[in-house]
Amino acid sequence: PRPEDHVVVLFGATGDLAKRKLLPGLFHLARAGLMPAGYRVIGSAPAADALSTDAFRKHAREAVAEFGTSQPEGPAWEEFERALSFGAADPDDTGPLQTAVREAEQALGGSPRRLFHLAVPPKAFPSVIAELGASGLAEGGRVIVEKPFGTDLASARALDGTIHAVFDESRVFRIDHFLGKESVDNILALRFANGLFEPVWNRDHISHVQIDVPEKLTIEGRAGFFEGTGTFRDMIVTHLFQILGFVAMEPPAVLTAQALRTEKAKVFQSMRPLDPAQAVRGQYEGYRAEPGVDPRSDTETFAALRVDIDNWRWAGVPFYLRSGKALAEGRHVVTLGFREPALRMFAVDVPDTTNELVIDFDDPGRITARFLAKEPGPEMNLGEAEMVFAYTDCFNTAHALEGYERLILDAMLGDQSLFTSSEGIERLWEASAPLLENPPPVEPYARGSWGPDAVHRLVAPYRWHLPEGG
Ligand code: BG6
Repeated sequence: PRPEDHVVVLFGATGDLAKRKLLPGLFHLARAGLMPAGYRVIGSAPAADALSTDAFRKHAREAVAEFGTSQPEGPAWEEFERALSFGAADPDDTGPLQTAVREAEQALGGSPRRLFHLAVPPKAFPSVIAELGASGLAEGGRVIVEKPFGTDLASARALDGTIHAVFDESRVFRIDHFLGKESVDNILALRFANGLFEPVWNRDHISHVQIDVPEKLTIEGRAGFFEGTGTFRDMIVTHLFQILGFVAMEPPAVLTAQALRTEKAKVFQSMRPLDPAQAVRGQYEGYRAEPGVDPRSDTETFAALRVDIDNWRWAGVPFYLRSGKALAEGRHVVTLGFREPALRMFAVDVPDTTNELVIDFDDPGRITARFLAKEPGPEMNLGEAEMVFAYTDCFNTAHALEGYERLILDAMLGDQSLFTSSEGIERLWEASAPLLENPPPVEPYARGSWGPDAVHRLVAPYRWHLPEGG
C-alpha cells in the first residue's frame, strides 16, 4: 500500500542523523516509488541554524551523495529536490515553519497528513512538542520521536506526559531503527513461520543467549550527544533490549501492532531488575581527550551485562548483552547456544562450542547453524560444520529497505507494529534502575579490543561467540 499524501517535517534537518540516514532514506523511498503520490519534506531547525530552501536542497544533495544508496541525479532526484523546502522554528516563533507548512499543503491540495520527525537531541523533545501543540501544527499529525526516550523511569514518564498532552498514543511513533532492519524482522518469521525452530526455542534446549553489537566507530565527534548518554542508554536500553524482546517473546495471538507490543511488554515485565554485579562498564582509551569530552568523564563507551528473564520459557537461561565503541569489529549478532545432547556417545573429544544458531543482523543478514558432523574417513571422528542462510543467496535484496526507511514508511502508513510502546519503555527503565543508581566503575579498554577483561568473566563458563574462531 502507498501512504496518503504527506507533509513531512524534519526537525534537526541540519544534524548528523538527517545527513546520514533520514535525507538519504527519504530519497531512497522516493526512488523506490514508496513515497506518497503527493509529498513535501520541510527541513526545520532553530532560527540560529536556519537554511534557505536552496541551501537545504544543496545540503540534502550532499548528504545523499555521501551516504545514499544511489546518486542524487536524474529525474528522480530533480523531483525529490523540488519537494524540499525549509522553515525555521523556535519555541517562541514558529512563524517561518507555519508558512512553509501552509505553502506545502496548498501545493499538494486536499488535506495531506503531517508527520513530524524529531531528529533532535533528547533534551529538545519537550520544547519541540510544546511548540507543535501551541502553534496548532500538531493537529491531526503524527510524530516520530528518536531514542533514547528519557534517561530513567521518571523522565520517560514526564516525556510521555508532555507528548500525550499534544499527541494521543495512536499518533506517537517512538523509533528504534534496529526494529526496522530486515533481519531483525526476520526473527519473527524464523520463529513463528517454521516448525523447525520454534519447538526448540526455550529453556529445555537453549542454554544461553548472546546479543552482541560491537562497533568499530568511536563517538565520531558526537560528544554533545554521547557525554550525557553513554552506551547503556544509547544502545542497550534501546536497541539491544528491543532485539531481546523479539528473541524472547511468546507467539503473539495475531500479527498486529497491539499484540506484538503486548508480548514484548510481557518479556520486559519478566526481566529481573538488572544486577550491577553482573554488568561491566568500559571506556576506550583516549575517550577523555576527544573534543567536547570532560577530561574526567565517567561516561561509558562500552557496556556488557547479564539479563535474566523470569518466566516459564526462559527461567535459568542467561542472556548476555554487549555493545561498545572503538572495538575490534563492527557486527550485529544474536547467538543461541544449545544444550548438549542427553548422552555423549562418541568416544572422541568434541569441541567446546557444539550447537549454535547465529543470527547476523548486519545488512543484509545471515543465519548460521553450527553443529557437529562426521569427518570423512574410516573412523567416527567429529568435526565442526555449518549450514548458512544468506539473504543475498536466497532473495533479491534490491528491494531491501534500511531500518529508518522501513520505519518512516510504516509511520506514514500509521502502522505502529515496529515502534515501541510507552508501557514497554517504562518497564525497561524500571528494570534498569538498580544499574543506573549503582553503576559499576568504568574500566579502560584498548581501542580495537573486545572491551575490558571482565567481559570474559561475565559469561563464564560460556564464551563470547565473537570474535569468530577466536
Ligand atoms: C544509533 C546510536 O542509534 O545506532 C549510535 O546512537 C550507533 O551510537 C548506531 O552507532 C548504530 O546503528 P547501526 O544501524 O549503524 O548499527
